[in-house]
Amino acid sequence: MSGLAVLITKTLIVHASHPELEIIAEARATLLNGGLVAFPTETVYGLGANVYDPAAVARIFEAKGRPPEDPLIVHLTSTVDLPHVAINLPDIVQELADRFWPGPLTLVLHRHPHINPAVSAGLDTVAVRVPAHPVAQALLKASGVPIVAPSANLFGHPSPTTAKHVYNDLAGRIDLILDGGPTNVGVESTVLDVTGEHPVILRPGGVTLEALRDLLGDVRLLHNQKTARIGAQISPGLLDKHYAPNARLIYVRIPNDERMIQAMWHSAHSEAARGHRIGLLLADEDQAYFTGIPAHVALAGSAADLTEIARNLYRCIRQLDETPVDVIIARDFGEQGIGLAIRDRLTRAASQVITSETFSE
Ligand code: TXA
Ligand code: MG
Repeated sequence: MSGLAVLITKTLIVHASHPELEIIAEARATLLNGGLVAFPTETVYGLGANVYDPAAVARIFEAKGRPPEDPLIVHLTSTVDLPHVAINLPDIVQELADRFWPGPLTLVLHRHPHINPAVSAGLDTVAVRVPAHPVAQALLKASGVPIVAPSANLFGHPSPTTAKHVYNDLAGRIDLILDGGPTNVGVESTVLDVTGEHPVILRPGGVTLEALRDLLGDVRLLHNQKTARIGAQISPGLLDKHYAPNARLIYVRIPNDERMIQAMWHSAHSEAARGHRIGLLLADEDQAYFTGIPAHVALAGSAADLTEIARNLYRCIRQLDETPVDVIIARDFGEQGIGLAIRDRLTRAASQVITSETFSE
């Protein structure tokens, strides 16, 4: 990153539900002058640039240290702007938009020829979403242009769910951070490709597989996502270790709770015996089982409330990663509803996955 000039990164606190006009006006000016503005969405913080400014789009990749083959999501105020960014819209787009927009759903569509190919990493498709967060909406409306926004983290880090996370990763690399408090969903949008014969989920996220199937019937899930490819391209965001923390992460993906706790306990003991400092990513109700083990603990909420777990997931990973631990042992939360997205992120973050098949006492 030798070519990257050091910037002064300004943070402005903004009201999450009634964003102040003068703050939005400043963010708009920064954006329309080619600057990079991080802002809250309902999922995670995004790093925004004007889609029509090729230099600003290039700066996004530079600031994040993101490889150019990983395409960006274009954010719109509403479906009304869709024809400016995508063409040959299939009929189901209207249905999906009516049900899920604004909200945590990204659609992969055929790219409008006026949209800079760099946005889509040279693909002839483009990912589009209409975010629900009032600050994102206010910024989009004020700017009058679609905003490209990847998650506002350094490439390979967990996505940011607070302005502080953004600052820790990108201070000196971007112009402005709008601090609208912690985000609500906590994991990124669901990416649904609707350009093919069947709708395919490329990345599970805030809108669940069940909800999509409820509307569309046949929805497929891209399997083996770590090595998935779209045509000749590695499917973006599906790069191995995309969400990796610094510490080694052992993910105990065992459906039976009792066995899972047993496996975590075993793992913690053998790591401790090797002199490793341990971090535990737990549900509130697990805590009692681990009192005898010296460990830093991050509690993600009750396992009965996956919405809460999703909201806290990245904060917990970052929190453990900031404490001196050598290994993080994380539990599973199943694959119902948003559990699927949680599982996807933990699988990607993991250096080792312990399953029923691989766990033996
Ligand atoms: O919730 C979110 O989606 C957040 C907020 C800020 O909107 N954004 C986000 O962006 O997570 P990012 O860049 O971290 O992830 C975008 C993902 C890529 O990893 C990729 O999987 C998918 O969107 N994507 C983008 N363009 C695509 C395309 N043309 N074809 C297939 N997948 C695409
Ligand atoms: Mg990302």
